Amino acid sequence: MKIMSVFGTRPEAIKMCPLIKELQSHTEITSVVCITGQHREMLKEVLETFTIKPDYDLNIMKKEQDLFDITLNILDKIKAILIKEKPDLVLVHGDTSTTFSTALACFYLNIPIGHIEAGLRTYNMTSPFPEEFNRQAVGLVANYHFAPTEQAKKTLLAEGKDPKSIFVTGNTAIDALKTTINPNYTHPILEWAGSSRIIMITAHRRENIGQPMEHMFHAIKRIVEEHPDIKCIYPIHMNPKVKTLATTILGENDRIKLIPPMNVIDFHNLLNKSYLILTDSGGIQEEAPSLGKPVLVMRDTTERPEGIEAGTLKLTGTTEEEIYKQFKLLLTDKVAYNQMSHATNPYGDGFASKKIIEALLQNKKD
Ligand code: UD1
Ligand code: UDP
Repeated sequence: MKIMSVFGTRPEAIKMCPLIKELQSHTEITSVVCITGQHREMLKEVLETFTIKPDYDLNIMKKEQDLFDITLNILDKIKAILIKEKPDLVLVHGDTSTTFSTALACFYLNIPIGHIEAGLRTYNMTSPFPEEFNRQAVGLVANYHFAPTEQAKKTLLAEGKDPKSIFVTGNTAIDALKTTINPNYTHPILEWAGSSRIIMITAHRRENIGQPMEHMFHAIKRIVEEHPDIKCIYPIHMNPKVKTLATTILGENDRIKLIPPMNVIDFHNLLNKSYLILTDSGGIQEEAPSLGKPVLVMRDTTERPEGIEAGTLKLTGTTEEEIYKQFKLLLTDKVAYNQMSHATNPYGDGFASKKIIEALLQNKKD
């Protein structure tokens, strides 16, 4: 059975690499890896960490790329590879433009598609944008839906997907986390932090770039100025628009460390050492609950209600006052903090990759 895995951005790579390792360990499977290169440096870093060598690289990234650039370039370049390789199945992940364009190309060529991390929804096409469209569109054409949770399965069933095409597997993010966390981890940045409480920050969502992101950064700046016992570590996404906003608003404060994107091993271990996380990221909402770290999700919506139900995530929206208020509460109210800081794991036992492959092999026999 020839399985081609296609991905292009940092989070897809972090969650697909454990699965690819697992695919490679099965003699009855020929694994082919194609990266689109929607991200470049941020993708290379992950591939090196997990020692995955792609068979194909579409190398599409351009500075200031827009959604047309990504979609058109992937469709244009992936066609010949799919025709040449004739995979029995293509695996795509999540909700990026890489995921959507690849699924569309497979649909046009009548190649079966397996969707990893299926069934996440906000049902709000503007938030996250364009991800909500991407994942719903992939859901329309996928032959297999690998849902991370029972909740995601329910969502897919409610949309009328064939129950036999849905498999609850957990999230491969937990598979990755199992290999990266080291209880004895050290890093020079921890010496810089000393005895201060560490706040980890990330932000990158397209719909937040501009005023919402300015609000986030102003709230963070005010809080840091008022609380001398905290230090923030903010690895900035490589999008130049994000970098400009972050350095303009947060650049002057010596208790906010603005640094380039971190290697995933460092980043996971710093999450594990942190007091609190502020983010608009999707993947971090899955990782933090199993580390028992409270997360303020600086967005209006989330497709990951499991973490909210488990009590480790709270949606703050994107207004300065609400982020300020929620951030301050978790710094000053021990009871509120403790309520959010217990470890729960709605995303499985770290064997999602094995379960995905078992489901595929079983399905082939049937
Ligand atoms: C993309 C995904 C988003 C995902 C995010 C993860 C889409 C539409 N968006 O958004 O769902 O949450 O990745 O991070 O698919 N850049 C570099 N080097 C890199 C990576 C990015 O220079 O290694 C810069 C480039 O200037 C690029 C910009 O970042 O133009 C934005 O990258 P892009 O993939 O278009 O969007 P993201 O915001 O990263
Ligand atoms: N991450 C990382 N280095 C960083 C910031 C994040 O390795 O400097 C990891 C993080 O642990 C998570 C993933 O990148 O696994 C999330 O990626 P991102 O926030 O870019 O995308 P999203 O999950 O929002 O699609």
